[in-house]
Amino acid sequence: MTTQTALGIADEVLSQIEAASEKNFLPIIGPFKGKYLGEEVRKAKPKHVLEVGTLIGYSAILMGKEMESQSEIVTIEIHRDEAELAGKNIVWANIPPKVKIITGDALEVIKDLEGLFDFVFIDAEKNEYFQYIKLAENKLQKGSVVFADNAGVFADQMGDYLDYVRKSGKYRSRYIQVGGDGVEISIKL
Ligand SMILES: C[S@@+](CC[C@H](N)C(=O)[O-])C[C@H]1O[C@@H](n2cnc3c(N)ncnc32)[C@H](O)[C@@H]1O
Repeated sequence: MTTQTALGIADEVLSQIEAASEKNFLPIIGPFKGKYLGEEVRKAKPKHVLEVGTLIGYSAILMGKEMESQSEIVTIEIHRDEAELAGKNIVWANIPPKVKIITGDALEVIKDLEGLFDFVFIDAEKNEYFQYIKLAENKLQKGSVVFADNAGVFADQMGDYLDYVRKSGKYRSRYIQVGGDGVEISIKL
């Protein structure tokens, strides 16, 4: 199978999840904010991605489409049913990177992960974002990108996180408004 065909399948899986979400809402990042996520992954060319909050694999597939075969996504999902469905969708999408789905609470899982991550996508419990970044911080390096979803609609619940990435001096951070929501993109200094 050519790469072209494989990526066509990934697009088809993304479209089917978007259509399912129109019928029964799913809290996926969706195509509009997803365009920024895809662009940042394409620019950063990460080898090791950490995702917090897999749901059914939409954002992992969206990121994976932009990655090379010698790369890896580690994604954490607390609910077993979602993690299993994500596994099926990710296999079906046939994206280049290796994807490891860990079923468990990110607050427990992150500290035991080995190696460094050059890209982190945070999209789980909004009032836990600050804890996720603190747990992951010793696995980041200069230039690592931390992309946080829902920095508009859930800004109140993420206040400690947003203050930290904007004011700690450890990140260069910017907010991008997308429709009624937004994403916070923070680069480790
Ligand atoms: C907004 S959804 C993720 C959407 C997904 N990133 C996408 O765009 O396709 C949030 C997910 O995080 C999971 N979650 C919530 N708290 C978590 C935790 N502490 N550890 C791991 N997963 C968690 C939820 O079960 C849910 O599936």
